Parts: sequence; C-alpha cells; structure tokens
Amino acid sequence: MIERMPLPPEPSRCPLWQTLAWGARPLAFMARNREEIGSAFSVRFLGFERPMVLVSDPAAVKALYTERRNGLPPGRRFALEPVLGERSVLLLEGEEHMARRRLMLPPFHGERMRSYEAVVGEIIGAEIDAWQLGREFPIHARMQAVTLEVILRAVFGVGQGERLDGLRVRLRDLLVDIGSTRRQLLAVVARRRGRDPLEDVRARLAEVDELLFAEIAEHRRRPDLGERDDILAMLMTASFEDGLSAERPSEIAGDDEREGAKRESDDRMDDKELRDQLMTLLMAGHETTATALAWTFDLLLRHPVELGRLRMSLEAGEEAYLKATITESLRLRPVIPIAGRRLAEDLVTEDLELPAGTDVTAAIWLTHTDPAIYPEPFAFRPERFLEAAPETYAWIPFGGGVRRCLGAAFAEFEMRIVLREVLTRCELRKADPSPEKTGRRNITFSPRAGTPVVVESRRPARESTPLAA
Ligand code: HEM
Repeated sequence: MIERMPLPPEPSRCPLWQTLAWGARPLAFMARNREEIGSAFSVRFLGFERPMVLVSDPAAVKALYTERRNGLPPGRRFALEPVLGERSVLLLEGEEHMARRRLMLPPFHGERMRSYEAVVGEIIGAEIDAWQLGREFPIHARMQAVTLEVILRAVFGVGQGERLDGLRVRLRDLLVDIGSTRRQLLAVVARRRGRDPLEDVRARLAEVDELLFAEIAEHRRRPDLGERDDILAMLMTASFEDGLSAERPSEIAGDDEREGAKRESDDRMDDKELRDQLMTLLMAGHETTATALAWTFDLLLRHPVELGRLRMSLEAGEEAYLKATITESLRLRPVIPIAGRRLAEDLVTEDLELPAGTDVTAAIWLTHTDPAIYPEPFAFRPERFLEAAPETYAWIPFGGGVRRCLGAAFAEFEMRIVLREVLTRCELRKADPSPEKTGRRNITFSPRAGTPVVVESRRPARESTPLAA
C-alpha cells in the first residue's frame, strides 16, 4: 500500500543529521525544509522505523484531524504509558478513547470554569505577594509552581494540609526529573539494554501514586461528592455512556482487589483509572500552561506598545485584547511543536496524497508562520486577532479533531487570570532584553533561559470583575 504513492521529499542529509538538527535547532530545521522542499516534507529520525511526513497547509491539517479513525502517532504509548498508565485518555484509541472524552470534557467547559476563577486568583495572588522586589528570577519556574498548584487544587481537589504538601513536593521533583533531557537520554539507553526506563524514578512514582489513591479514597468518603467543583469529583460521579462497560478488558475488571479500590458501578471510572486520568491531566496540563505563560511574558515585556495597550484595556475591565494577546502568543510560540497521527485511510487534498499507514504530523509552528495566512508572520501583533478569530485549521496550538486538547478552554482561562493579576499588580521587566531562544523540555518548546524577570514595584491585590468563562 505504502509503495502506491511516493511520500513527499526529505532533506538530502542522512537520518543522523536530521535527528541532530531536529534536536538542536528544531525551528531552523523546519523552516529550512519548508523553504527547500515545500509545505509538506518527510523526515527520518533515528529510532523510528518509518519516515514521518510533516504537513503545514491548513487543507492537509484539516484532512489529518477530521479523519476520526486515524490512530495514535508512533511512540506515544511507548513513551508515556509507564507514567500515565494504560487507561490514560491520551493513550486509548477508538471507542474507548471517545467514551473517556465524552466523560472528561464537560468539567473543562462553559460555566463550570467560573468555579475555578477564585482558586486560580488566590494561587497567583499568593505567588505575586511572595516575589521579592528588585531581585531577578526565572518566571517560567514560578509559572510551573502556579500551574502545579492549580492542578492540585482545581483538578485534583486536594484541600490544604499534609497531603497537598506531600504531593506538591513529590510531584515537583518527579516532574523536574521526568522532563529533563538527561533523563530522556537515559531512558533511551535503558530501553536499548532491555531495562526499565523509569527504574530510578519508580520509588518516587509509587509515593505519588499512594498519595493520589489516598485522595481518591477520601473523595469517595465525602458526603458532598456530588456537589463538589473539583474535576476529580466530577469524574467520579460521571458515568460512561451505555455499552462501554461490556468492552472493558478483563484486567481492568480485576482491579478491585487492590485495597481501598471500590467500583460503585461498571459505568464509572474505577480508582486505578481515576489515577491514570489524574496523572494525564497533570502531565498534559501543567508544563504546557506554564510554558505558554512564560512565552507570553517574554513577548509582552519586549513589546512595550502592546504591553501598554493590554494594561490600559485591563484597567478598563476589558478582555478582548487579553484574549487576542494569548491567541497571538500561542500562534508565535506554540508550546507543542507537532501533534501527529498514523493514517487509517489515504489522506488526499488538492496538493497532496499520502497512503494509509503513513505517520503524519501537523507542523504547528510552520502553519502558524505561513506568510500566506499571517502577514508579517514573525511579528507579535495581538491586533490581528481583535477583528477575527483564527481559522480552525490555521491556528492549531491545541491540535485538532477528536484528540484536540481537552484542557484548551481551561488553559486559556487560567492564562487570562494569571496575566491579568500579574500585569495589573506588578511593574516588571525582562532581566535580559533580548528574545528568548527556544529550548526543549520533554515534548515542549520552552524559553531556554526560563525568562528571567525583575519585579520593580507591586500594588496590593484588589477586587476584580469576574472573567467571561
Ligand atoms: C497552553 C496549554 C496547553 C497546550 C498548548 C496544550 C496542547 C495540547 C496538544 C497539542 C494536544 C494534542 C492534541 C492532538 O493530538 O491533536 C493536547 C492534548 C491533551 N491535553 Fe492539552 N494543552 C494545554 C493545556 C492542557 C490542560 C490545562 C489540560 C488539562 C488540565 C490538558 C489536557 C490534555 C489532554 C487530556 C489531552 C489528550 C486529549 C486526547 O487525546 O483526546 N491540556 N494538548
């Protein structure tokens, strides 16, 4: 089948060179291939059996994301299952995946979001109060602390106390370790030698699991479970649609033997699955949102005109410019560079034909910097999104189709609260006025130096109007 249609050309250099170029300077690598080959090209990375096709034309992106039967990209399960667990929504496919999406989407949408505004406001308020005036610090690390706290309190629903303190410390250490480049390399070597790639973090992961299971058990005992606002409570009380329980594999049905696990009904997530989804929401939602915030500060603090306009609009209680700023920041600095699929069917557009079985990914940053879609694509201009919302398949920081980010609305809402609080309360400047270079953490593209800033002055917190959910 694959021989039927030739894949788009690939760079003339060998796979080792391509792998190193992608690792060292991914944006330059993609831009050069676009220039020399076109909007669709193939790449060959060491360790992958097949080439991967990168597409950036919105018609190809649309075709890729709207075919529901397309499968997971290569390597996703292999890389993530040891931490996320086998029932993670990020790793299931077909009807099992769709059933989880249906169950997990409602808490991240609409009016439900309002209930998170107070907790996010409280967390960023305390963070701002702790900043030392005149002292340089990397704002990326502080945003990681904020987004971790938001997940622990708004998503996991952990109340103040020993468990929150324990989870905060253990998760922070675990996330630093799992995300480091050194760890990624060690994991590759361990796998090649047939060893457990996570052997050195197993004990820490087990400690985190123990705390998560304790929180799930405590939630189950709460008489107010049905009225609680946290996402864990909503996942526990929601049920799968009819028919799913019959398809559940038998090893899941056997999980009840673990002490403390209770499955009230086959139509609800059991404790083991709840743990997998919590870990997934943490891993998918913490670093990404922190990084998007750090990039937004890097951009705003280097663009005084846009920063001034944003501040004025916030003082006037308006939100349109804030939303446009976030949209523009995610366009210019998409945190996740690629979100791919394995084709279940041939992909056909006016300009492209790819055979079923091909690994294809949207090259998000290339789509976002196409001058035919965005004039002056490298300029930071929130105004471009004031008049019109972006086209669905030309603005894809959250991927698309049936695997589009479940937390997109939540992330955007959280970013609005954090940016508004920081910008209305603090005068801050970048410690180094030059633009941040792109580095990597895990699968994210993040500001390499962590965006060091200096807070020059700070106003006390004040009442603010609620944001639109
Ligand atoms: C700015 C912040 C964020 C960015 C840029 C981002 C980006 C993405 C991307 C690119 C995908 C893959 C989509 C695809 O394959 O088409 C994804 C999936 C996902 N994200 Fe996010 N994300 C962010 C925040 C969050 C948050 C806050 C949560 C939850 C708390 C979250 C939960 C998820 C989940 C569960 C998936 C898997 C969806 C599925 O496979 O059905 N994300 N995200």
